[in-house]
Amino acid sequence: MQCDLAGKVSLVTGAARGIGQAIAEALAANGSTVVFTDVEESSVREASDRVPGSYGKVMDVTKVNQIESVLGWIKSTLGRLDIVVNNAGINTLAHRVTIDEFPRSEWDRILAVDLTGLYEVSRASASLMKSQGSGRIINIASIAGLVPLRLQCAFVAAKAGVVNLTKAMALELGPHGILVNGIAPGSTLTEGTRKLFYGEDGSFRSSVAQMLAHIPLGRPGETREIAVAALFLADPENSYMNGHILTVDGGWTAGYAREF
Ligand SMILES: NC(=O)c1ccc[n+]([C@@H]2O[C@H](COP(=O)([O-])OP(=O)(O)OC[C@H]3O[C@@H](n4cnc5c(N)ncnc54)[C@H](O)[C@@H]3O)[C@@H](O)[C@H]2O)c1
Repeated sequence: MQCDLAGKVSLVTGAARGIGQAIAEALAANGSTVVFTDVEESSVREASDRVPGSYGKVMDVTKVNQIESVLGWIKSTLGRLDIVVNNAGINTLAHRVTIDEFPRSEWDRILAVDLTGLYEVSRASASLMKSQGSGRIINIASIAGLVPLRLQCAFVAAKAGVVNLTKAMALELGPHGILVNGIAPGSTLTEGTRKLFYGEDGSFRSSVAQMLAHIPLGRPGETREIAVAALFLADPENSYMNGHILTVDGGWTAGYAREF
């Protein structure tokens, strides 16, 4: 997909790798000046160095002073902020346990990034966008925020929060010309998740066969397939969609992929 983002300034959180990097690259490829941000300094510089004309900044979404510093720099140096993609997110693999065993420290760690971090970046960005009278905020939720999964209570709660917060922000910010929408990816291949899916021989691990059976397309998504949805939500031509969550999951949440 192609759209005209010439003259637009975008900020993407968690842009050093995975879905965030793919979205940041897609926005830049369509003419936007992109500020790649991430908690990992060397990786974010590496990612932004691959895209001429873009910027790489360290920004931990749990650190309000870092958010204010990057937003202040954008305002003074680039003069405006048109598109914010709240992508930074974490989950846990070490604690796939029922809620009675789920450590409070993991709950706090995940909520701090996935929900509170998104709130902090959104509030700082909305203030700048309100003064312009325009903007787009795109929140990366998860299908786990629509249909809960077992053994990841913090992640499903955080992502359900992102879904409803997206809609609440759309109600509040729409009158100021700011459109707020979200994307709910299904399982998506990244450097991090690739080894969970594929064994040494390049075929799907038997442990994921059960999960893949729920996906009508029979495979996980690619980061570029999530980036296309982000471009659609950023496209100036797409000007009447507000408060919507786009699922990009190969049909996983369309219904039960089984016969009774
Ligand atoms: N990959 C999937 O299967 C999948 C499915 C559904 C939803 N999502 C969501 O998509 C988003 C991106 O996921 P991904 O798979 O690309 O993840 P990833 O782990 O590959 O990349 C996440 C990026 O966020 C950064 N990050 C982590 N904590 C941060 C913080 N405090 N501040 C700033 N940056 C931080 C990491 O350094 C990393 O670069 C997340 O919100 C995730 O929950 C992913």
